[in-house]
Amino acid sequence: PSEVARIQEIIDRYRGTKGALLPLLSEVQVACGHWLPANVLAWIADEVDVHLSYLYGMATFYTMFSLEPRGQFIVRVCESPACHILGTQTVLEALREELDIDVGQTTPDGLFTLELSSCLGVCEVAPAMQINEVVFGNLTRQKIHEVIERYRR
Ligand code: FES
Repeated sequence: PSEVARIQEIIDRYRGTKGALLPLLSEVQVACGHWLPANVLAWIADEVDVHLSYLYGMATFYTMFSLEPRGQFIVRVCESPACHILGTQTVLEALREELDIDVGQTTPDGLFTLELSSCLGVCEVAPAMQINEVVFGNLTRQKIHEVIERYRR
């Protein structure tokens, strides 16, 4: 289905469900290619009858949302204590080299966006990162290289 039809389907599915704005925005963000365009937020506000400023408030409060275009693959590096102690900085260094971008940036080919994240829930395999929905732990420079190469194909 087209992007518009997909977004409409998501809105319809959550319509009338209390507390559904968060999952609704998450799903719409995926459907839009990992970001929330202004016109789509306006559309949602209209459809579910909430104030647009309220949606903007949510979209800026939660780090998982972006109001700007992002890459096809969102690489999120955990910076919470367990990972921090075991090597967040090394992971970030390796990714900066591998992708040639800094945190908050997207590679020129539109493939990767590098971001920080709070605990990914896999502290026992720290340091960890997540690429879209998949979590990778026990990261070393070598493993990071291999994982990124896999996504490049
Ligand atoms: Fe990194 Fe929990 S602190 S996964």
